[in-house]
Amino acid sequence: MPTSTRVDDVSADSDAILVGAATLRNDNPRLLVRAPSRRAERTARGLPSTPIKVTVTGRAELDPRADFFVTGDIEKLVYCPTGAVAEARCRLGAVATVVDGGRLVDMCRLSEDLHARGVGRLMVEGGGKVLTQFLTAGLADELQLVVAPFFVGDSRAQRFVGDGSFPWNPDRRAELAEVRRFGDVVLLRYALSDRFDRD
Ligand SMILES: NC(=O)c1ccc[n+]([C@@H]2O[C@H](COP(=O)([O-])OP(=O)(O)OC[C@H]3O[C@@H](n4cnc5c(N)ncnc54)[C@H](OP(=O)(O)O)[C@@H]3O)[C@@H](O)[C@H]2O)c1
Repeated sequence: MPTSTRVDDVSADSDAILVGAATLRNDNPRLLVRAPSRRAERTARGLPSTPIKVTVTGRAELDPRADFFVTGDIEKLVYCPTGAVAEARCRLGAVATVVDGGRLVDMCRLSEDLHARGVGRLMVEGGGKVLTQFLTAGLADELQLVVAPFFVGDSRAQRFVGDGSFPWNPDRRAELAEVRRFGDVVLLRYALSDRFDRD
């Protein structure tokens, strides 16, 4: 099974998918469940065919024509600080719901707001700045890491996470729950909380 199929599986099992604004600008992701069978399964369970899309931005400099906004008949949520709400609504109000995330957008508050909107399972796809905030705040129940067999060799390359104080350290190691091979890459699944789903 290719890793893209695996990612589609995880997406199909989520109520919402979140990426940071930089990922949205750089990669222009669609963030849709692709396989028709998985979309049909979701619909049969009474869910929308694809999860809610979520992003977070400070500057609100996002293109309303980006694939994130124009693909998928599903709600798109943009969290931004109070000071950027007016500009974000002006630019994106026709294609997304702009949510006031407070003076500074805090991932704990954002998660609570998503929960109030019916999101039980959130997939955070990156990038590093967003992942760092979810992990340092202890909000993640599971971490899925895929290791590819090559070197990047560029100190400017994107890091998985940035600086921060993480709940997992040499004295408190995360639990490695599963190792799975997909072709020449390996998937590592870590249980990060009691809510980790062992099925
Ligand atoms: N290998 C992978 O699987 C994978 C997956 C995803 C992404 N990526 C890569 O990761 C790169 C981007 O990573 P990144 O770490 O630079 O950026 P990122 O996490 O995608 O996004 C960072 C941006 O999100 C907004 N943001 C994050 N936290 C915020 C907060 N608390 N309040 C307000 N806004 C907030 C800001 O947007 P504004 O700048 O708009 O204010 C910030 O510049 C992309 O180039 C992508 O290719 C790789």
